[in-house]
Amino acid sequence: MSIKKTEKIWHNGKLIPWDDAKVHVVSHVISYGSAVFEGIRCYGTKQGPAIFRLREHMQRLVNSARIYRMELRYTADELSTAACELVRANKMGACYLRPIVLRGYGDVGVNPFPSPVEVYMSCWEWGSYLGEEAREQGVDVCISSWTRMAANTLPAMAKSAANYMNSQLIRMEAMVNGYVEGIALDSNGYVSEGSGENLFVVSDGAVCTPPLANSVLPGITRNTVITLCREMDIPVTEQVIPRELLYIADEVFFSGTAAEITPIRSIDRVKIGSGVRGPVTARLQEEFFALTGGAKPDRHAWLTPIGVPAGASAR
Ligand SMILES: Cc1ncc(COP(=O)(O)O)c(C=O)c1O
Repeated sequence: MSIKKTEKIWHNGKLIPWDDAKVHVVSHVISYGSAVFEGIRCYGTKQGPAIFRLREHMQRLVNSARIYRMELRYTADELSTAACELVRANKMGACYLRPIVLRGYGDVGVNPFPSPVEVYMSCWEWGSYLGEEAREQGVDVCISSWTRMAANTLPAMAKSAANYMNSQLIRMEAMVNGYVEGIALDSNGYVSEGSGENLFVVSDGAVCTPPLANSVLPGITRNTVITLCREMDIPVTEQVIPRELLYIADEVFFSGTAAEITPIRSIDRVKIGSGVRGPVTARLQEEFFALTGGAKPDRHAWLTPIGVPAGASAR
């Protein structure tokens, strides 16, 4: 998935050329991982490009910054407006957006306060995350030997760059062992999440997912799946999940902005259910893609059309 560069990047309120969005090597973020960020999808709908759950993503960014005492000069609404402006400026259709708040060039000590808080936002074209066929065929995954961050170490509820060092260990181990992704347990041995996805289990028609206290990111797609289950009369709970429940589940799937809803067909080479996408996963996928693609009315106001600036013609 190489990055296809676009024309502009948003930096502290201004659109700058892609190649000018540079960070100095002694910036605080480089040594200490002091950044929080978001990953957001803009879908190409029949009504034009529209960003999925934009406000919720920007609110999570604001929350992540607050946890790390980063003074953010922009509100979630202002960042949402900037996101639309960026997609328009780059003349993008479906794309992925990456806002990031980082500690820049200031001081070299661990104390982050002297380093300025910088905000950048980029977007680029992005396809499927876990492989083209994953959506239908499902993916083969393993339980990672790495656990998720223990409570009161690195906050799992903040989407911070530093957390992704843990995610990288999980993902690399899975890949070198021939799996697509790894599922991490928390420090007590209960199921947590994938390196970049939340996890759902289906047993006897009921859906469950680990609660936030099991070191999971409060995924926007996780919330979307829970909401859809409630609407579709599928019983859904947040509950502590022992590892062995995964092997005997009828269905297991990942949720995430990148992974969307991706079925898991095996874990540690143990077939999940009958080893193909299950009916509950398929129903949820169908509803999810109908909403993100604009095929069904946007009853939750989850899509933000990027709009067309005055004077430009609608695409
Ligand atoms: C560790 C982790 N968990 C869960 C998710 C899913 O979150 P969301 O649905 O908001 O993309 C992500 C993706 O950002 C992630 O990186």
